[in-house]
Amino acid sequence: MLKSHPCGALTIAEVGQTVTLAGWVHRRRNHGGLIFVDLRDRSGLVQVVFNPAESEAAHATADRLRAEYVVQVTGEVQRRPPGTENPALATGAIEVQAQQLRILAEARTPPIAINEEVEVDEALRLKYRYLDLRRPKMLANFILRHRLVKAIRDLMDQEGFLEIETPILNKSTPEGARDFLVPSRLHPGCFYALPQSPQQMKQLLMVAGIEKYFQIARCFRDEDLRADRQPEFTQLDIEMSFVEQEDVLQLAERVITAAVRRVCPQKRLLSPFPRLSYAEALRRFGSDRPDLRFGLELVDVSDLAVGSEFGVFSTALAEGGVVWGLKVPGGAAFSRKHVDELAEIARRAGARGLVTLVREAEGLRSPSARYLGEGRMAALAERLALAPGDLAGMVAAPLEVAAAALGSLRSELGRRLGLADPRTLAFCWVVDFPAFEWKEQEQRWDAVHHPFTAPKPEDLPLLEGEDLSRVRAAQYDLVCNGHELGGGSIRITDPELQRRIFRIMGNSEETVRRQFGHLLTAFEYGVPPHGGIAIGIDRLTMLLADAPNIREVIAFPKTQSGTDLLFEAPAPVDPAQLEELHIRLAVPEEA
Ligand code: AMO
Repeated sequence: MLKSHPCGALTIAEVGQTVTLAGWVHRRRNHGGLIFVDLRDRSGLVQVVFNPAESEAAHATADRLRAEYVVQVTGEVQRRPPGTENPALATGAIEVQAQQLRILAEARTPPIAINEEVEVDEALRLKYRYLDLRRPKMLANFILRHRLVKAIRDLMDQEGFLEIETPILNKSTPEGARDFLVPSRLHPGCFYALPQSPQQMKQLLMVAGIEKYFQIARCFRDEDLRADRQPEFTQLDIEMSFVEQEDVLQLAERVITAAVRRVCPQKRLLSPFPRLSYAEALRRFGSDRPDLRFGLELVDVSDLAVGSEFGVFSTALAEGGVVWGLKVPGGAAFSRKHVDELAEIARRAGARGLVTLVREAEGLRSPSARYLGEGRMAALAERLALAPGDLAGMVAAPLEVAAAALGSLRSELGRRLGLADPRTLAFCWVVDFPAFEWKEQEQRWDAVHHPFTAPKPEDLPLLEGEDLSRVRAAQYDLVCNGHELGGGSIRITDPELQRRIFRIMGNSEETVRRQFGHLLTAFEYGVPPHGGIAIGIDRLTMLLADAPNIREVIAFPKTQSGTDLLFEAPAPVDPAQLEELHIRLAVPEEA
């Protein structure tokens, strides 16, 4: 090794020892003939002093050092002179008196500052990701991610799970996104699909008798990107045989709780994780991934709106909709502009508008007072528990729209009013999802989770009817702080029922045979009851690291438009490569 110690590990215990260090010049200062260098490696920083009286040659070389030069230093660890200690630094009680200095590599001036916390344009950070990752804050994210995955592997092993890798080149499993395709050279005109998840593979491993499988699995989905979505991401993928829903929930809860406690003991965590049905999550929080760090629950005021002359209310109710409200403590003091912004959030989620009601010391006030009438205003204010100084926002719309509008409003208010404690991880389970959703455009039913999800046994008779929206699935989501962290289900193991579900979703016999024949055949050879879950490792790390998006916890992420700015991928390929793959491009030539 070119070094005897990590920089950040030196303490007063090493005083008097001669050490050899190697790393990057974090900062250099000249002070009254002495040169001070903060030397950085992965472990942290240590101060190195170049004194001409100690070594004239080392001091002369140190004069040439610039930020990010790579150097090797040999010297003696000394206690810092009294009064010059730096308690903010782990190694702040000591310094290294340099005797020798060797420059291992010079460095150009970095385009992004590594030694100070400044806002840097993300495109620049991604183009020079190897410099961005040198920043201590980014390094900390990857140390955390490593420790999290290590803890998960250890815990899954203790629980008796086998980690098994599954192919990247195969046929895809439908998870609701578009596939990334890979052309086959050996089979002209044929394509592999990258897995959207190892769903079918893990189910086949259950047929294979593995009983308890897990994988830290890479998944690929060609979908619109967001702060918590990347085209390739990592799941803790789990499948278990001879289990019921409760067993999967408990296993996942044990492992996640223990892993989080191990790597982030400073975080507060709700335990046991509260459980909400999908319907309850929508009704109380307006979302199937509620942030439970704060209250601000929605209130159903539909019954108070019945018989109203107010067109906004009566029309919504007549169309089978609801009127829901949300109390904003202290909202009476919001400016007109602020209230307009809230209404705009509700509109963006599909609501026609936001009806507001304010309680002041003198009484109730509302822009819609004329239509609401005094009695109804008083009843609404009471139901919404408005105290003087509070504002209520109400939405009259179909249930899903009212939920989405007030759910978005609730999240926004949680942020603005600082209600969400950043140290808390409010995990919860959302259960009893509907099995199917109607796709208006395609005029067909689709699985809410995926087509392998079992309907609840008690809802099986509903499959006979026309309206499948009432069929519930043995499906569950793990939610934390407003993010969907994981999802899973108990699977269908009856080949006949599986065929029927595929048909309900509009697949022909032929498509089913071609796409899923292998799975259905496997189920004819002794399939154990099984179920599982997949938890997003990127999202979990993001929450643990308090990062604003998952790109901060992925070493080389893609931009929102799916490009890698460092490699400049995707990129055109050599025509010879295309020819080998039997591919002719239909892209118009650039002028
Ligand atoms: P699902 O599709 O719900 O389930 O995905 C599980 C979890 O994976 C994470 N995730 C993502 N993370 C980052 N970028 C993305 N584009 C992305 N898409 C999903 C989320 C999500 O909750 N095979 C099933 C699991 C099962 O049924 O066992 C599946 O993949 O955290």
